[in-house]
Amino acid sequence: MSISSAAPLVLIGAGNMGGAMLSGWLKSGVDASAILVIDPSLSDARKSEIEVVGAKHAAAAPEGLTAGILFLAVKPQLMATVLPPLKALVGSGTVVVSVAAGTTLAFLQSHLGEAGMVRAMPNTPAMIGRGVTGAYANPKVSEAQRAAVHDLLKVSGPVEWVASEADIDAVTAVSGSGPAYVFYLVECMAEAGRKLGLPADLAMRLARETVAGAGELLHRSQDEASRLRQNVTSPGGTTAAALAVLMAEDGMQPLFDTALSAARKRAQELGS
Ligand SMILES: NC(=O)c1ccc[n+]([C@@H]2O[C@H](COP(=O)([O-])OP(=O)(O)OC[C@H]3O[C@@H](n4cnc5c(N)ncnc54)[C@H](OP(=O)(O)O)[C@@H]3O)[C@@H](O)[C@H]2O)c1
Repeated sequence: MSISSAAPLVLIGAGNMGGAMLSGWLKSGVDASAILVIDPSLSDARKSEIEVVGAKHAAAAPEGLTAGILFLAVKPQLMATVLPPLKALVGSGTVVVSVAAGTTLAFLQSHLGEAGMVRAMPNTPAMIGRGVTGAYANPKVSEAQRAAVHDLLKVSGPVEWVASEADIDAVTAVSGSGPAYVFYLVECMAEAGRKLGLPADLAMRLARETVAGAGELLHRSQDEASRLRQNVTSPGGTTAAALAVLMAEDGMQPLFDTALSAARKRAQELGS
């Protein structure tokens, strides 16, 4: 399917996530004349970004319009008030995409009616085009719609499709919330370095650049993470000494098992 001014891509909410997606679309050559952004509190900078390429924006959905793709990027707690007036935008050929954490397709359907729907979970590195998105499409989504949605989501990084909506809660636990675990890893490494006697600011700079650099190395390399780890671990060396602790039975794996289970449980609660 292709979007057009008659069946546009309508973005609801251009805040952190919706705004990042929009910037990606405008840079990657999505037909700007087929984009309508609806957000009552667009900044002047965002309005200019939209207007300069010939896309449109409005504070509320115009009457008589049917969306080709209705892309929902408002906070989950606002959905119940945001959705009812949007039902008029949904026609038989519309595919609805939501990036709202914990908002189920059943909930969207209860407000928008039966339609092809995609539930997607991006993550914050999407802001710099380096995110990863997990997505689930309900059976009403055609192959052409799915390909069109894939193209929209991939502007923020790779898109991984999952087979069941329930898997989105696990995706949320791994990659949706994941950047925070990595930032916390930086904090833990810096704090451990401070306890070893380094000045706190130096320990933080070392930890931060180590995680950023290791992430970039992982990004550029074809090797598995485990191979990259082994490459820097000499038998009997310093890295091996630390990994013996981190990889012990009571080390990081059981901690991550527990932490990600807690994240998934919370995602399930938000969606119930
Ligand atoms: N940020 C992330 O890293 C991330 C990651 C994964 C998923 N998500 C999901 O992305 C969604 C958006 O999160 P966000 O962080 O981008 O939120 P946000 O920055 O608050 O953006 C939402 C935007 O929607 C606007 N809005 C409010 N009511 C509206 C309405 N009736 N019609 C159209 N627009 C309306 C908001 O305006 P006001 O500011 O005036 O309310 C705001 O500009 C959430 O559902 C979240 O779960 C976010």
